Amino acid sequence: MCGIIGYTGPRKTTSVLLEGLRRLEYRGYDSAGIAVGGGDYGGRPLGIVKQVGKIAALKAAMPADLEGSWGIGHTRWATHGGVTQANAHPHTGGAGKIAVVHNGIIENHHALKSMLEKKGYAFVSETDSEVIPHLIAEYYKGDLLEAVVAAIQNLEGTYGIAVVHADEPGRIVGARNGSPLVVGVGAGEMFLASDVTAMVAYTDKVVYLNDGEIVDIRRDHYDILDREERKVDKRVDQITWELGSIEKGEFTCHMEKEIFEQPESIARALSGRLDLENATAKLGGLNLERRRLSSIGRVKVIAAGTSWHAGLVGSQLLEQVARIPAQSEMASEVRYRNPVVEKDSLWFTVSQSGETADSLYAMREIQRKGATVLGICNVVGSTIARESDGGIYVHSGPEIAVASTKAFTSQLAAFYLFTLLMARMRDMSREEGLKFLAELQAVPAMVGEVLKRRDLIQTIAKKYCGAKDFLFLGRGMLYPIALEGALKLKEISYIHAEGCSAGEMKHGPIALVSPEVPSVFLVSDDYLRAKTISNMREIKARGGPIIAVGVEGDAEAAALADDFIPVPKADPRFYPFSMIVPLQLLAYFCAVELGRDVDQPRNLAKSVTVE
Ligand code: G6P
Repeated sequence: MCGIIGYTGPRKTTSVLLEGLRRLEYRGYDSAGIAVGGGDYGGRPLGIVKQVGKIAALKAAMPADLEGSWGIGHTRWATHGGVTQANAHPHTGGAGKIAVVHNGIIENHHALKSMLEKKGYAFVSETDSEVIPHLIAEYYKGDLLEAVVAAIQNLEGTYGIAVVHADEPGRIVGARNGSPLVVGVGAGEMFLASDVTAMVAYTDKVVYLNDGEIVDIRRDHYDILDREERKVDKRVDQITWELGSIEKGEFTCHMEKEIFEQPESIARALSGRLDLENATAKLGGLNLERRRLSSIGRVKVIAAGTSWHAGLVGSQLLEQVARIPAQSEMASEVRYRNPVVEKDSLWFTVSQSGETADSLYAMREIQRKGATVLGICNVVGSTIARESDGGIYVHSGPEIAVASTKAFTSQLAAFYLFTLLMARMRDMSREEGLKFLAELQAVPAMVGEVLKRRDLIQTIAKKYCGAKDFLFLGRGMLYPIALEGALKLKEISYIHAEGCSAGEMKHGPIALVSPEVPSVFLVSDDYLRAKTISNMREIKARGGPIIAVGVEGDAEAAALADDFIPVPKADPRFYPFSMIVPLQLLAYFCAVELGRDVDQPRNLAKSVTVE
């Protein structure tokens, strides 16, 4: 969702803002803009440039001599109002002296707009955000902080904002309610951004704002105030990400890099968490005592998108291996259906970014009902990570491509660890625990083996990427993998794809089968294999082409399929790790063949901080 950056300090402000926006582009990329102060802007109080399209378009539109000594920038993912230059941020008020960038949705903007119009304020955009600079102008009496504090009392909805005023050089005021903001602390310079990625090149010291907090920033100083305008002392956190981890390196795009990084990212998720002596997992962040853990009667998982798919695999695993009833649901559904929170239930919120609004608000709702909620997050210090009652960081490292890959397999790793822990507290023997641990330890190498099929998968992608529709079919724990495979293909290649349970296929989706519609089958070698093979025959009989991802040596599946992608033989419970990788690569190569923008597919944003 929209990216925000603010900078005040001695560096070239325009360059810092543009560089920050480039790093934030994965949050939204339909238009962008900056506002800087302190220079000569031909009679205008602030230097403002906005452009439809990506950051490269903004860069190209930038007058060479536009500079300033402080400023703010924004990359947009449109919610209210089309993708136009007028709707791009920053929005201005107070005769062009006030500039605001906003992430979130102002729900009462209609009422505010008509109130402000009656007072003579003229609106130039169709956005909800434009009410903010006019409101600030309405309250401005010479102090930006006071005006922002007064203006936000009127706002209903969600916001992360950064505000500057031409008459207050070097000052940036930020406020947060529902959309993330982080202060970057430098020596003689300060940053404000929607996430740390924007400033990791300049500082590793950050302060995360909470909802209701306001920050008043100058180059060598910042103050954070709470809702009651009392100063709050907050911890300065150290970011451990290195700049290299958000660069593409030798790869052509971030998604390719992130797919190929999975042996290492999964190993990181497991690192230090395998207790070989006791044949269990060590998860220090759960914040739950052994007695509480052993009394858990059911597990509920809430998440969105790819993280939801990880939750679906995790729930099946928990039921199968630890014999705990478990369910995974879309967070956007849970929040509004007044969920029952049983006393013995443990909830998980899974979120790569830790900022997804649907997941965050659903989590708050069930916490309000007394539930204990653990987070499975990647971004350290993110809102879900901070507001959950404990959790498991997945340590994938920064994931920049919009389509999630390495975070997914690390989320799976977190569920496998938690399952082992729970199973060992119940019926799983030490021997079984050791076997499970050995399989888990072997996952990075197994994924590494699958990645060697790169050329084969590229050839298959070339053969099928002209198809308009795809089916992805799997059973049991491979059903969520079919959903995830279909999602990956849709997201980045724009080919329509449906993920179905292979068993359910005959109850409807089979009507789609034709020589033009390829079916991608996931074939395990467990008790469900024979059923899946029958489903493949049903497709074959109707002339549908078949791509099968199956176990090495499965001659029958290979013969039935038009194209076969083998994965190493393993304990079938671990195939979700190895079988998702060919589907990630298939989507990637189809998108490349079709000339799509792999890292920034149309209409999507990496982290959706509105409902
Ligand atoms: C967005 C992204 C998806 C992602 C989902 C959940 O829709 O485009 O790729 O899976 O959000 O994100 P989260 O950060 O909560 O895992």
